[in-house]
Amino acid sequence: MDKQCVRNYFNKNAEEWIKSGYDEDKYSYPVAFHRARIVSSVLAEKGPNLNILDLGCGGGNLSILLAKNGHNVVGVDQSSKMIDIANESRGNLPKEEQYRVRFVLSDLEKIDLQENHFDAVTAMGLIGYLPNDDILFRLADDLLRPEGTFLVSCRNRLFNMVSLSYRTVKEIEQGEAVPLLYEIDELYQGIPKQEIEDFLDCLKESVQGIEVEALSDSFGEESASIRLGKDDNALEARQHTPKRLTEKAAEFGFKNTHCFGVHPHLMDPRVNRLLPPDVYNRISCSLEPLEQLPVSLVWSSVFLSVFEK
Ligand SMILES: C[S@@+](CC[C@H](N)C(=O)[O-])C[C@H]1O[C@@H](n2cnc3c(N)ncnc32)[C@H](O)[C@@H]1O
Repeated sequence: MDKQCVRNYFNKNAEEWIKSGYDEDKYSYPVAFHRARIVSSVLAEKGPNLNILDLGCGGGNLSILLAKNGHNVVGVDQSSKMIDIANESRGNLPKEEQYRVRFVLSDLEKIDLQENHFDAVTAMGLIGYLPNDDILFRLADDLLRPEGTFLVSCRNRLFNMVSLSYRTVKEIEQGEAVPLLYEIDELYQGIPKQEIEDFLDCLKESVQGIEVEALSDSFGEESASIRLGKDDNALEARQHTPKRLTEKAAEFGFKNTHCFGVHPHLMDPRVNRLLPPDVYNRISCSLEPLEQLPVSLVWSSVFLSVFEK
């Protein structure tokens, strides 16, 4: 992917991207907020006071959350608009949190940081915008201390076989549909009864809140979004499958320890706009109790892998 084009895109759309990534919206799911929630809980288990590098930190939301959790964070991003927003948020922090986080405007290939220094490196929604995966794994390998943790999140290519979208059509045309279905097949394993019970409890709760009267306000609006067509304004990131990302990580000596499904879908996403506002998301959220299980990678459009060096 062309770097200049990525930089222009995030400079132009920084505020909008942060809003849709972190704020609850009636028709879209705050993916970045949920990724940050998972990263925060994974790193909380590693102890306080970690040195963390947040690559492609965007507007600094995750970096600041980790600083508030008592870690020391460096956030790096190549978009000046994103770094301006991150520094503004940093300025609003209490002094004792401000000194825990700093932001650097740089292309990640040009950063000058101490090797083997960081306890953890995070790269949320970044890898798909890089020309290739090796750049990121090589950098993480250089900068992490031995046994450090590397957290990577990206779009889940397996979900192309579930979304019934233009992406499904493309996978079939490219002859990739069958290998993807075989990778999906391997994920139906190790599903404990407790998690299913939690899912059913959440589902019951979300269904109770549905107001059928709200349907008339929204039904049929923006019907174009439920067709197979692509949104030409979006910058399409490269996609990965959990298994292939794990194989790539292994080439650099990383071992996969966890894989979380993020942004679950209980129904075909095209149904979203046919339902009253927020209903699709509320129902989908009931799958969150299953997010740490392999099977969640079937219905989640994003995944988050945890690697150990
Ligand atoms: C999808 S946003 C994610 C932001 C942030 N990680 C979050 O989850 O809130 C991807 C970010 O990666 C940054 N980025 C893309 N390519 C980069 C590169 N080569 N070096 C540094 N940052 C980069 C973009 O500017 C953008 O802010």
